[in-house]
Amino acid sequence: MTTNEDDFGPLCTLDQIRKGEGRHFRPTGGRWRNKAMAVFEENGEYFVTNFICPHSGGPISEGKLVDGVVECPWHGWKFHVDTGLSADKEDGHAVEVYETRIDGDTLMVGGLKRPTK
Ligand code: FES
Repeated sequence: MTTNEDDFGPLCTLDQIRKGEGRHFRPTGGRWRNKAMAVFEENGEYFVTNFICPHSGGPISEGKLVDGVVECPWHGWKFHVDTGLSADKEDGHAVEVYETRIDGDTLMVGGLKRPTK
């Protein structure tokens, strides 16, 4: 996917993100302004997924992140936060994931990395 600089908008500051835990934010600008998103950090890398689980609408930001996999708190579906692909079901549903970059102390969110199946 080609990066479009106009897609990027500020999502949160880095000090608002907690290791191993998701947080829920809405971009204040860019293509996804006001869209609910889940943010995770692991080993100094930042990951942004859709806030809503593709199974039944659970809050993915409330799931725990372990070894790059988040588990939805409602029914336990698991997703790789880098690709959005299912981590526990062959041909399982994917969650939307987004490009990120850091601008000063701000995490910016940009284009869709992979559409939901
Ligand atoms: S809503 Fe996420 S697993 Fe059911």
